[in-house]
Amino acid sequence: MPSMAAHGDKWTAGGCHTVFMSGRSLLLFAQALLRAPREVGAIAPSSSVLGDRLAAVVPRSDDAVIVELGAGTGVVTARIERRRSPQSTFLAFERDPQLAMELKRQSSGVQVIADDARRLRLHLEQRGLTTVDTIVCGLPWANFSDQEQSELLGVITRVLGAEGVFTTFAYAHALALPQARQFRAALAARFDEVLPTRAVLRNFPPAITYVCRTPLVRP
Ligand SMILES: C[S@@+](CC[C@H](N)C(=O)[O-])C[C@H]1O[C@@H](n2cnc3c(N)ncnc32)[C@H](O)[C@@H]1O
Repeated sequence: MPSMAAHGDKWTAGGCHTVFMSGRSLLLFAQALLRAPREVGAIAPSSSVLGDRLAAVVPRSDDAVIVELGAGTGVVTARIERRRSPQSTFLAFERDPQLAMELKRQSSGVQVIADDARRLRLHLEQRGLTTVDTIVCGLPWANFSDQEQSELLGVITRVLGAEGVFTTFAYAHALALPQARQFRAALAARFDEVLPTRAVLRNFPPAITYVCRTPLVRP
């Protein structure tokens, strides 16, 4: 079985969400943030509670194809690993080479791809895959321009099957900011169904998730 032992799933009374996250993971996250603050776009890795919320849409079937975009230090990756069938296919994209290397070290069952999420289709084709059942996404959407958001959502909707699900998160305190509002509008333009969930308070900062179905594929 794949192991992602660096991350735990318990909380302290004070609400620290990364109780068992190794100092190594936190150090790697901080280094990545210093290297590329805009691309990392968070002050801390997600909590395992948020990870479970995101992973809840992952199918348990053996033939499922699951993709994670922006895997970071692997908190959400580990929650997907707990849920999915070991026979399913799981590709995790992480652009930062150091973080990708750490993900590879931690996880044996995941195909870690140290590349830009924009090249998702190419990597699927290289593996003989055409469609994906579920995309779980940790990309920092609010830091992307309208054009970047549109380009990435185009890549995502083109590879999702008609029954496919896309899920991602947004920080609750920033939902009213222009790029967050733009992202919400971009989701509505690309999916027939966009369900925002209630906030996960046990995350720093608290975050909502979007669950998006029925991709509206554009030419
Ligand atoms: C907000 S962090 C989320 C990390 C992790 N999923 C979590 O929730 O803790 C965003 C991650 O996306 C990665 N990233 C940003 N842009 C990317 C891109 N275009 N392709 C692949 N990874 C990207 C960053 O390097 C960073 O690790």
